Amino acid sequence: MKTNTPRTIRLKDYAPSPFLIETVDLEIDLHPTETRVRSRLKVKRNRKAEPAEWLHLDGEELALEAISINGRPLGEGGWRSTPEGLSIKCPPKGSFELAITSTCSPETNKALSGLYRSRGIFCTQCEAEGFRRITYFIDRPDVLSVYTTRISADIELAPVLLGNGNLVESGKSDGGRRHYAVWHDPHPKPSYLFAMVGGDLRPTTSTFTTASGREVELRIYVEPGKEDRCAWAMDSLKRSMAWDERRFGREYDLDIFMIVAVSDFNMGAMENKGLNIFNDQLILASPDTATDINYERIESVIAHEYFHNWTGNRITCRDWFQLCLKEGLTVYRDQEFSADERSRTVQRVADVKHLRAHQFPEDAGPLAHPVRPSKYIEINNFYTATVYDKGAEVCRMLETMVGREGFRKAMDLYFQRHDGEAATVEQFIACFESACEVDLGQFMLWYEQAGTPQLIVKTRHDAAKATLTLDLEQAIAPTPGQARKKPMHIPVRLGLVGTDGADLALKPAAGTVIAGDVLEFTQRRQSFTFEGLELRPTVSILRGFSAPVNVTHDASDDDLAFLIGHDQDLFNRWQSMQTLAMRLLTGLITGSGARPAGIAPLSAAVRKTLMDENLEPAYRAMFAGLPSEEDIANHIARNVDPGVIHDVRSKMSKALARSMESDLAKLMKRHAVKGPYSPDAESAGRRALANGAFGLLTRLDGAAASELAAGHYAKARNMTDRMAALAALTHMRTPARKEALEDAYKRWKDDHLTIDKWFALQAASNLPGTLAQVEKLLRHPLFSIEAPNKVRALIGTFAMGNPVNFHRPDGKGYAFLADQVLRLDSFNPQMASRMLGTFRSWRTLEENRANLAQRELERIRAHDKLSSDVFEIVGKILD
Ligand code: BES
Ligand code: ZN
Repeated sequence: MKTNTPRTIRLKDYAPSPFLIETVDLEIDLHPTETRVRSRLKVKRNRKAEPAEWLHLDGEELALEAISINGRPLGEGGWRSTPEGLSIKCPPKGSFELAITSTCSPETNKALSGLYRSRGIFCTQCEAEGFRRITYFIDRPDVLSVYTTRISADIELAPVLLGNGNLVESGKSDGGRRHYAVWHDPHPKPSYLFAMVGGDLRPTTSTFTTASGREVELRIYVEPGKEDRCAWAMDSLKRSMAWDERRFGREYDLDIFMIVAVSDFNMGAMENKGLNIFNDQLILASPDTATDINYERIESVIAHEYFHNWTGNRITCRDWFQLCLKEGLTVYRDQEFSADERSRTVQRVADVKHLRAHQFPEDAGPLAHPVRPSKYIEINNFYTATVYDKGAEVCRMLETMVGREGFRKAMDLYFQRHDGEAATVEQFIACFESACEVDLGQFMLWYEQAGTPQLIVKTRHDAAKATLTLDLEQAIAPTPGQARKKPMHIPVRLGLVGTDGADLALKPAAGTVIAGDVLEFTQRRQSFTFEGLELRPTVSILRGFSAPVNVTHDASDDDLAFLIGHDQDLFNRWQSMQTLAMRLLTGLITGSGARPAGIAPLSAAVRKTLMDENLEPAYRAMFAGLPSEEDIANHIARNVDPGVIHDVRSKMSKALARSMESDLAKLMKRHAVKGPYSPDAESAGRRALANGAFGLLTRLDGAAASELAAGHYAKARNMTDRMAALAALTHMRTPARKEALEDAYKRWKDDHLTIDKWFALQAASNLPGTLAQVEKLLRHPLFSIEAPNKVRALIGTFAMGNPVNFHRPDGKGYAFLADQVLRLDSFNPQMASRMLGTFRSWRTLEENRANLAQRELERIRAHDKLSSDVFEIVGKILD
């Protein structure tokens, strides 16, 4: 816990480290409460930096035992310890060996940063600044070193010992009671990529032969008894390795690649060199424990962490402001992998939905920051949707502008120029400018300006001249610290749709800037004219969501209905359905009038898509749902009443279901997947469609719906169907609800992972007594506040996945969350800060709720011992 007022770090203050560390030799002697780390560092001065008198090493929660330089212990005047580490005065001018011995206590480390224990397994998490909790070090990403790690332990305490790189030696000592392993990683790396693991783990092994014919050993380590749940992860890993060779020409660079699954992990997974560490939720899968969505997520996270080997590890970040350089780019790469392995359109819709649900509200609220922030207090607070998902969109826009081949050429140049370095966003962009001969000066604003641009589209058709003109306007609302914005370079992909649904040729008039079908929109206001159009075409704007912007378009409801049925761009078909539904929903909610046509045009268009056997089932499934309650709240964005949103949306879902009841029943039957479960995209798509139809049908009133849901539960032969049934039942006042949840408990209680679904289902319930039930579950013997997966399942689901209960008009949901944030902050600030983020949109709420939320936020801020994590977030949310 940090007690001083935390310091702000600024990008403009970046200076290279005055000292570099060429090699690191670690001897780690594992012990639950007194792990001893002896470190020998080969240190030298950095000729590219200002000379310094003091050598500062970062260190946190360490007990220092000894310190020497070139074998000689340092005298009292030679060094001093500071709250953040230790400083050594006037170290030798040339290169020297610095040896430090210190201890740390994994068992009591509940922050899960540094070296800690998860269900008995010793493991590490060093990104961003956890290495300093293992040993004293210059803990910043531009200090690259070659690591050798010798780990020793009682065999019984830790029968398996793993480190980065290749195993060079292992053996026993103390008459066979103890053992050790020496790992060497030849690739220089920053400290945040260090990892080690010790514990009772079982490997599943396989091999992969690289394009150049090298054989790589693959191992996935899990706790004993879980080996039969690794097959999908292994398969995903091999497909990821093959894809990176095919699409980017990138081969793996060590003889062995290991993944370890641990239960307690603050994040999803971590790309440590040659030794990825994963939240076990993102490795373990069997038809009885994992849904299709779980399988899909495992595949994409394995890919993501594997892809970091090149984008992140071989080329790392100069400083943490450049985080999007590895994260945004790697998210883009994992999205592309999923698009290639599954359905491109379905993937695009899912990614855009995710962006809108998480990044757009961040950009519209008090936590808004650029893709490359310019300052931070706590770096852990900047692993955000903006850095990750908007960062990925920025890479995608580059691809849109320079083409698939241009993108590959620029990436090749990036690897050629910067392999082995710690790079910056400017260096990355410079590779695109050189390889593709483009000017990205204005485009750089995507990294610098926060806020989601508003794109306003007006169309003018001139029948006499046979022209269509699009008048485009862009605007970005002010964000914290950025009152005025410059116009951005926005690539707008466009289609003009003829009356038969076919695309019309784009014939730009003189002065219209367009490359292929992408408008280059660079000014505040800009017009684009097309010729040869006697009849007014329907405009399909921002196809494929070619830029992360909000669109206001003057398309009529009829235009939208037409596009839903005919647009050649399947993304925009889905988008048009969302836009039409949102118009209806917000009309009813804000009272600006239910439209005379009611839901008939929407329901006709939705039904047609759902039943269209020419489209793939996974795609059709995405038409079975209205925009979520959160989407609607974000869209309305002021004076939000989550209760009203919930009611209106429920009623409309019900009306939609009623209007196509018999078709939905047909769909459910027709797409029921027979035979043994397989997680492949095609089968998953059919289950998604059947369950989408099922979900809508359960919106209908009364006994029939609960009978249908209970029957679906009873008949379910895999976790996907079982969860679909339970997700419907959890909102129903029916005895079947209790029976099904009890049955699920019996099935899942002995598996710490699967039981999280039971917690989450109850936390998501719309029923009025949910808060009381969540409070009761906090005291359940299988719940633990120290386990992040449990916290996310119960507290996270309640706060983020249950708007109607979290936003109770009496404010008790807010008080509950504030209590849990303070409780978490005393031992795991990262988790506390993430949970606190849920409050970010409090100012958009109606007055009563806004006041109640503010009161709870003030209570958190007034607390006397806050971590820098929570301090930074609560301050921003309230300011
Ligand atoms: N490097 C991160 C993990 C990380 C994040 C470590 C923050 C420390 C602090 C990793 O590559 C990552 O991004 N993981 C994501 C999943 C990914 C698929 C987006 C995660 O853990 O959620
Ligand atoms: Zn990542």
